[in-house]
Amino acid sequence: MSFLTCFSRYRTIWLKDLDTVQIIDQRHLPHEFVIEDVLSLDEMCVVIKDMHVRGAGLIGCAAAYGMYLSLRKLCTSSSVEQVRECLQNASKKLCATRPTAVNLRVGVEKVGRAVESVLGQNGGGSVEAALEAARKEAARITDEDADFCRRIGEAGADLLQKLYERKKSSASAAEGELKINVLTHCNAGWLAFADWGSALSPVYAAFDKGLPIHVWVDETRPRNQGASLTAWELAKHGVAHTVIADNAGGHLMRTGLVDVVITGADRVSSGGDACNKIGTYLKALAAKDNNVPFYVALPSSTIDWQLRDGAEIPIEQRGDDEVKYAEGLCEDGKRRRVLLTPESSSAGNWAFDVTPSRLVTGLLTERGLAEASEEGLAALFSEVDRT
Ligand code: MRU
Repeated sequence: MSFLTCFSRYRTIWLKDLDTVQIIDQRHLPHEFVIEDVLSLDEMCVVIKDMHVRGAGLIGCAAAYGMYLSLRKLCTSSSVEQVRECLQNASKKLCATRPTAVNLRVGVEKVGRAVESVLGQNGGGSVEAALEAARKEAARITDEDADFCRRIGEAGADLLQKLYERKKSSASAAEGELKINVLTHCNAGWLAFADWGSALSPVYAAFDKGLPIHVWVDETRPRNQGASLTAWELAKHGVAHTVIADNAGGHLMRTGLVDVVITGADRVSSGGDACNKIGTYLKALAAKDNNVPFYVALPSSTIDWQLRDGAEIPIEQRGDDEVKYAEGLCEDGKRRRVLLTPESSSAGNWAFDVTPSRLVTGLLTERGLAEASEEGLAALFSEVDRT
């Protein structure tokens, strides 16, 4: 059962009409479900930068629709040169919104190429043809994102089933009490993509097949994507879960309460290093020390084939306020933010970290499991030009 059938037919992004992209404004979750209209390139840049939408796959789709919206503002008599200029400007603005997830750049480039292919025909194409090409490509990228994530779920569910069988054959607990405990960090569920998710897609697929499963949800300070988004998704789907403080994972792994860690990724290098939400690296270290398998789930659009070493991935730094303040629903039902630190304290806010491939048990992709190495990825994606 896809999210489309189990939750009022929503994806995270869609075209309402030719002038309007609609998104779920994730800043309001888990307390309010708000749909926002996005009408222009500049609005889309704000939506991405201020994280109304977030997550690697989804910001790739949003950026693709941003390219489309930029062309909507051109008049029909615009020249081919004006179309190209418009897209160059849009590409620059969109790529400046968030630097880490490679999907954003990939989405922008794919729409640029799709438009160029119609502009190039017969020495020049119309604005209408360019618009249609951009719209179709943005929709294709979005459908592909959902499809890749669904396939990650299928491959990951098999993996979880195997872990369950192994646990069953070695455990002393009665079968009825046995379950697989997954630990995840941040939100790599359907909210982070067009649909399904990467790290949570195997959880949904395994749960839908009847596998007993429970998820430890890292709250994921400073923006709390785990506590607010992952917990909300899992609750909606009926999956048993427990929100934990970010620092609890090591203790849970050491005391045998975690069978597997699955996280998402914002960019994976061609050598298999995985960049994900800040704190992921510490989870990988704890997993290694406790022989807990650590998988990173990602669609191939998250692989940066041009970059071999994960240390070169640009790490986004966000404002101090995200660390200094916490925001939530107060007892009077109003949403407020509260200051946690002395007003004068400064704060550091690195949004992502890189987990080296040696700590990653495997990369779970739409084509199945790859070893986290250049050879492992090359074996699964042999057609990709890495130059
Ligand atoms: O800053 P965000 O919320 O856009 O961060 C992205 C993430 O949600 C995570 O790092 C996630 O695990 C990978 S994106 C699917």
